[in-house]
Amino acid sequence: MDHLSEVLKILDGALRANASMAANYAGLLADKLEQSGNRQQARQVRERLARAPGALVSVQDGERGISLNNLPVDGESRLHTVDVSQPASHDICLELPSAIESRIQEFLSSVRHHDALVAANAALPNRLLLYGLPGTGKTQLARWVAAQLGLQLLTVRCDTLVSSLLGQTSRNLRRVFDYAEQHPCVLLLDEFDALAGARGNERDVGELQRVVIALLQNIDALPDSTILLAATNHDQLLDPAVWRRFSFRVPMPLPDHGVRRALWKQFLASYAPATLDLDGLVARSEGVTGAVIEQICLDSKRAAVIAGHSEVDEHEVFRRLGLMLALIERCH
Ligand SMILES: Nc1ncnc2c1ncn2[C@@H]1O[C@H](COP(=O)(O)OP(=O)(O)O)[C@@H](O)[C@H]1O
Ligand SMILES: [Mg+2]
Repeated sequence: MDHLSEVLKILDGALRANASMAANYAGLLADKLEQSGNRQQARQVRERLARAPGALVSVQDGERGISLNNLPVDGESRLHTVDVSQPASHDICLELPSAIESRIQEFLSSVRHHDALVAANAALPNRLLLYGLPGTGKTQLARWVAAQLGLQLLTVRCDTLVSSLLGQTSRNLRRVFDYAEQHPCVLLLDEFDALAGARGNERDVGELQRVVIALLQNIDALPDSTILLAATNHDQLLDPAVWRRFSFRVPMPLPDHGVRRALWKQFLASYAPATLDLDGLVARSEGVTGAVIEQICLDSKRAAVIAGHSEVDEHEVFRRLGLMLALIERCH
């Protein structure tokens, strides 16, 4: 049967008397039917949806702590704990070494063929852990993954989640995972170490331990089909128990020679002088992150625009790079 995973989700929604979940997945089913050419069936599903009592959905959402515009909010502050976006491939610049890219493509295929893999008893949970230094493009990669799958990206900043009162964190987590289960989306736990590294922290160990346990329980309760991404700067802080729950684990390395070349070109774009010593920049920028290259390019472009020039000053770019290298050096 085609679209079995959507049908199962709709069934889950109905059995749990969760109109929102059933309606969201019925919407997705209609989209998929339409994409596969079954327009008549898609229309039938949508007609049913249009007749659904909308009031029921919003009352239920209210009870579950889902606010009017459908985002889980922090119980105390009423702040949004989740950011929803719809990334589009064409405005995401991402350069990856080919080994990493092919691993990400494997993850994407595994997600796309999840139903068939389940049927063959060969499925892995749709869970990807990205780890690497800050500024290596982990958040960017998560946006790209969502764009490739054509799904909403639901980003939870775990550092914010933790700081918004420890006592509330477990409840907040439950809401976020509930929301993710009910909406076709990619759930990203960003700055994941804030949660997952909790056990090694100096702060109230008991309370933090409860947060880690709550996190593990939420991950375990999640159906394998829900797409869960986590990004962390400190893989060494991650609890091994958390680490094991991700079937795909991908390191985000510092950009290699080829990636640095692409990044300098991409970020300088038309502001690159024709005589630019690109090889020199690529060689000199070994060991810096993509974020640093982007920053140098933006700063240099800004200086050019303000000075009324149509190209960046090459010496200025090298000077800024030198400053950044000195800063990085001093931090080590
Ligand atoms: N490999 C890369 N390809 C494209 N852009 C990159 C890359 N690495 C870093 N960047 C740039 O650096 C910025 C920060 O990246 P981000 O994804 O936030 O890093 P992280 O989440 O790993 O800290 C992004 O705006 C992105 O444009
Ligand atoms: Mg990030």
